[in-house]
Amino acid sequence: MITYVEEALWQPICTGSWPSFCNGTMQRRMRKEPYMRDKYWLAGHFYEVTTSAAVKRCRVAMLDYLQPGEKCLFAGVGHGEDAIYAAQRGADVTVVDTSKTMLAKFQHNLDKLHQANGTPLAVTQVQSDILEVANYEQYDMLVANFFLNVFYRDTMVKLLDHLAQLGKSGAKIVIGDFAYPEGNLWSRVSQTLFWYGVATIYWVLAGNAVHPIYNYPEEMKQLGLLVLEKKYFDGYWSVLGQKRI
Ligand SMILES: C[S@@+](CC[C@H](N)C(=O)[O-])C[C@H]1O[C@@H](n2cnc3c(N)ncnc32)[C@H](O)[C@@H]1O
Repeated sequence: MITYVEEALWQPICTGSWPSFCNGTMQRRMRKEPYMRDKYWLAGHFYEVTTSAAVKRCRVAMLDYLQPGEKCLFAGVGHGEDAIYAAQRGADVTVVDTSKTMLAKFQHNLDKLHQANGTPLAVTQVQSDILEVANYEQYDMLVANFFLNVFYRDTMVKLLDHLAQLGKSGAKIVIGDFAYPEGNLWSRVSQTLFWYGVATIYWVLAGNAVHPIYNYPEEMKQLGLLVLEKKYFDGYWSVLGQKRI
């Protein structure tokens, strides 16, 4: 059953200077669906502590393609070190996440940087389901780092297609995640077991989906996107796709 609630309870939180987004989205009623709950209210507090150096490298692997002033959206940003890296490179960054806890951690990281450098970084933060973001054909780059693996395949494909629709013609689409198992039997089995171990933990902690590892380049091709590049980092990969011109 879909429950409709007062806008005041569910409207996205917008900070930064982007009135067009806020006007468009705040006036709509939002559906109260399971993924609008803060599923990271607990895991969000230690999520980043468990992150390896390989994951950190994977998250920023394709961000050097961003040019200053380009518009970049991070879906399911989490603590957002990657989004901060993009903003430091001069990109016009928007981050979207359903989790209040995760966005508070992101803000904490921004505040730490502000204290260290004395200069605030401007980032537009939106607390919303990414499917509610309707700024079509606005972005030069869409980033989904360790985001799409949270969902079962039908939703994952829908989200990837939605992200592509938010991009301008020729927009880059970046997915950092667990690499699809390749190579000899041992490396395929160990990668698969590793993934299922992590997925099971987050199924318990956050109700995330448990499914086989996704082959994102193939998913991109099936949606009509180009696959430009893949970079590997100890069991993770960053896949660079592009919306056709
Ligand atoms: C596994 S974490 C990934 C965080 C980060 N991008 C990273 O690189 O680790 C998934 C994030 O997606 C957010 N999320 C889940 N469903 C979402 C949705 N429908 N729209 C926006 N964010 C969502 C969660 O709150 C969480 O912060």
